[in-house]
Amino acid sequence: MENILFINSCIRPEDISRTYRLCKSFLDRYTELHKDTTVTEIVLTKSNLTPFTQNDVEQRDAAILTKDYDNPIFDYAKQFANADKIIIGAPLWDLSYPSILKVYIEHICVNTVTFVYENDMPKGLAKFSKLLYISTCGGFIGENDFGKDYAEGIAKFLGNGEFTSMSVQGLDIAGTDVDTIMNTAEEKAIQLAEIF
Ligand SMILES: Cc1cc2nc3c(=O)[nH]c(=O)nc-3n(C[C@H](O)[C@H](O)[C@H](O)COP(=O)(O)O)c2cc1C
Repeated sequence: MENILFINSCIRPEDISRTYRLCKSFLDRYTELHKDTTVTEIVLTKSNLTPFTQNDVEQRDAAILTKDYDNPIFDYAKQFANADKIIIGAPLWDLSYPSILKVYIEHICVNTVTFVYENDMPKGLAKFSKLLYISTCGGFIGENDFGKDYAEGIAKFLGNGEFTSMSVQGLDIAGTDVDTIMNTAEEKAIQLAEIF
């Protein structure tokens, strides 16, 4: 059985978030084609995640030292490490993504769980074969998609799987035919699901 992790980093509610709509189209098609797939969704806005503090760092280091891997401090990292495929959905906010996603990333970057150092070089331990980053944005950012670039960096840091992304741009530009763009994007998300 395949296990997909959906990291829902959308801030607006599901019924109005364009990013969520694309993630849903993708996942609906994917699960229709792969009946044996389990999707675990983390809704970051409903999570108990808080930015890592000095105290958290010390507690985590102590738990690594004593190999206390049942400690809940590792829960998000273990879940990320064990996912077969990963979908991150995040709107573009301030040239990257909402800060709650960065907070989540602080919780999953754990030496000995999602990466190790070998010969002074980091080696990813997460087993995902593919990671897809889905985003929408208000303007036209072209190649300056720092959110996507950082997500790709993290994917390479924590694993060896293939990184793919989908970005729909220009949704908040006056006069834009949002419905047509979104319908086309939804089709693209569905096509992506068929080859993912
Ligand atoms: C706080 C905030 C910051 C944003 N920053 C950017 C930005 O830097 N560049 C951009 O093109 N759009 C920006 N936008 C617009 C969103 O990216 C756009 O509306 C997106 O489609 C929202 O996704 P959603 O419908 O899933 O919430 C921002 C929106 C908000 C609310």
